[in-house]
Amino acid sequence: MRVAHPTRASLALADGAPLLELTDVKVSYGGIKALKGVDLRVFPGEIVAMIGANGAGKTTTLKSIMGLVPLAGGAVKLAGRPLAQDTTEQRVAEGISLAPEGRAIFPNLTVLENLELGAYLHRDAKAMKETLEDVTELFPRLGERMKQEGGTLSGGEQQMLAIGRALMARPRLLLLDEPSLGIAPKLVQQIFRAIAEIARSGVTILLVEQNTRIALSTSQRAYVLRTGEIALEGDAKELASNPEIQAAYLGG
Ligand SMILES: Nc1ncnc2c1ncn2[C@@H]1O[C@H](COP(=O)(O)OP(=O)(O)O)[C@@H](O)[C@H]1O
Ligand SMILES: [Mg+2]
Repeated sequence: MRVAHPTRASLALADGAPLLELTDVKVSYGGIKALKGVDLRVFPGEIVAMIGANGAGKTTTLKSIMGLVPLAGGAVKLAGRPLAQDTTEQRVAEGISLAPEGRAIFPNLTVLENLELGAYLHRDAKAMKETLEDVTELFPRLGERMKQEGGTLSGGEQQMLAIGRALMARPRLLLLDEPSLGIAPKLVQQIFRAIAEIARSGVTILLVEQNTRIALSTSQRAYVLRTGEIALEGDAKELASNPEIQAAYLGG
């Protein structure tokens, strides 16, 4: 796997410094305070989960990292550098990539065309070919369906395509928004095995999920978001055995 961002190795990151840091991030939609001051850190090589009920602010958190919503307060930093002035496209170029909720693939474009769109910042043909090989190795189902229109894929395959497209940008930080949503359990397993494999290849991952069980079993650390605020954070295994989490998110 060579999907990791090419500048990753030379990334100037002090020992022990977070790759991604949110401090007191606030986002409002009109009068609705969706994020009321979120603090979150993701260290290089980690898979960090953010769990929470529908409407807690998970998608908004990812949008704040991508620059898709304006901040009403606080800061987002990548490798210690504030991103406030950066457009979404610049953030992609700096190595942040999002596989959005609901997948948002182009149904009338082929699988290959969808993947190529993810590589719009890497027009170098050789790098593109290598990354495409990595993605099809990771998701053989996509390799078998390259000429098929995206809209004809199953939900799980579309999710693979959304993740594959995000990887085509060769991120150092991959943001995943509910990759298990609406997908058959067998494909959920495949997708989460792929997520672990992506992390092993050197990509840092922030995983947003309503499926608490699979999120906590895939990640090292986790944050629990509740109505726009971090209610709990810690080691994923410890959170999975926390009675409060079990009652609220794991069905008791
Ligand atoms: N575009 C929007 N306009 C107005 N309110 C929004 C918009 N997007 C999200 N919200 C509201 O912000 C809150 C957080 O939403 P969201 O980040 O989508 O939560 P989650 O991803 O955890 O389900 C919810 O109350 C939601 O209704
Ligand atoms: Mg959401």
